[in-house]
Amino acid sequence: MYVGAIDQGTSSTRFMIFDRSGSVISSDQREHTQHYPDAGLVEHDAAEIWQRTQECIAGALKKAKLKSDQLSAVGVTNQRETTLVWRRSTGEPYHNAIVWNDVRTAAIAKELEGSSGPDRFRSKTGLPLATYFSATKLIWLMRNVPGLEADLSNGEAMFGTIDSWLLYNLTGGPNGGVHVTSVCNASRTLMMDLKTLQWDKSLLKSLGVPPECLPEIRSNSEVYGHGAKGGYLEGVPVAGILGDQQAAMFGQACFSPGEVKSTYGTGNFIMMNTGGEIKHSKNGLLTTVGYKLGPKAECVYALEGAVATCGSAVQWLRDQLKIIMDAPQSQILAESVSDNGGMYFVPAFSGLFAPRWDASARGVFCGLTAYNNRSHFCRATLEAVAYQAREVIDAMGQDSGVTLTRIKVDGGMTANDLVMQFQADIIDTPVTRPVVPETTALGAAYAAGLAVGVWRDLKEIRAQWKVDKQWAPKMGEKEREKNWAGWNKAVSKSIGWEG
Ligand code: G3P
Repeated sequence: MYVGAIDQGTSSTRFMIFDRSGSVISSDQREHTQHYPDAGLVEHDAAEIWQRTQECIAGALKKAKLKSDQLSAVGVTNQRETTLVWRRSTGEPYHNAIVWNDVRTAAIAKELEGSSGPDRFRSKTGLPLATYFSATKLIWLMRNVPGLEADLSNGEAMFGTIDSWLLYNLTGGPNGGVHVTSVCNASRTLMMDLKTLQWDKSLLKSLGVPPECLPEIRSNSEVYGHGAKGGYLEGVPVAGILGDQQAAMFGQACFSPGEVKSTYGTGNFIMMNTGGEIKHSKNGLLTTVGYKLGPKAECVYALEGAVATCGSAVQWLRDQLKIIMDAPQSQILAESVSDNGGMYFVPAFSGLFAPRWDASARGVFCGLTAYNNRSHFCRATLEAVAYQAREVIDAMGQDSGVTLTRIKVDGGMTANDLVMQFQADIIDTPVTRPVVPETTALGAAYAAGLAVGVWRDLKEIRAQWKVDKQWAPKMGEKEREKNWAGWNKAVSKSIGWEG
């Protein structure tokens, strides 16, 4: 019995095949183009994403020497919030997808605040008004793509996040493709009520979004449709959809309230399971849907700290500054110096997300002297990952009252020992990586497999989670606090830069 998972992330797409023990059988990964039309703008070509997805499916099946009919089900996990509108009649997008970390909608977010401020919709949605969430991006598209507003109202234009786009194409596109999203993806749009788990009429009215364009909200684990005829997944049930951070939390088996995972991808996303409780944050975190395993299942909620820039800062060192050839070189250079040489880097490329939500912040390197070299640039970049995570973990502790005994980590950067050790040191909490670090794809596979009976229950899944490596804190209190003070000083230079 095998289960596949499409993991459509910000930088790349993967298709992974797992067996019943949760082990990886095969994987294929492809990058897609990042379009930066102007400062702060980030777009993806949705047709390219669909193309890469199909290539990955074909590639992974070929490597595993499997036929699609040997897959019991397929799950989809996706970069969240990234917003797309396409034509019902042809399946063609109206515009490039506007990516979650694009900041073009700062003025729209401000305008929506009115006299109520950024928390205008927080009690219903769990989210502040920020560029990050889909509704502001959809409003931008309505205002900037000629004819779109009319098409959204007359049913020709279909709105979706990337999960909806993939589901639609997997199940036939303009020839009968389904138009659905999962409850956790919908919880990132500013349009869904966290209690009813449905699109909310009054929110839609305030935002000016016509309900006709919206996908149906479904649970995270059920059969939504089957792979279309002639496609690489012909006849396979598509049975799980989870936003990528929720999928990582699920794949990390964070099933009990108080359990926390931290995923290091393009951004860094830290999530705490809060059970059936909608816990509103007083410290800059998001309240969001964790998962709902079936149409009749109880909803599990989560608190989340989303940090916009993590792996993308290393990518930036490679592609824009060109001071490293590849990501592993950043660790080699960072380890070649004994410390940061007094240098700090606040990578506020998209402003600062959690817990500060400051759109005016911009990236700063500070504390430089002529002593500093490119190794210090690498070290400061890697250390920034840990500092940003600590800000979120501190906020989480204040909101939840839970003192963490460990943080489960996953994602590409968990291969970087320096970052993981520094993370444990700066938070003063052990950091634990599981044997299968691809927990995002695994989480989506679990959700799909549960829907069709490959796995019985969460107990069976929890038993598959095993520790690969743990980093225990080693740094003394004095050094930790000195570093922390330096970071906070650097952040104060970053805030207020724009506007
Ligand atoms: O909210 C954005 C997030 O889903 C993107 O995740 O892994 O592509 O950085 P990632």
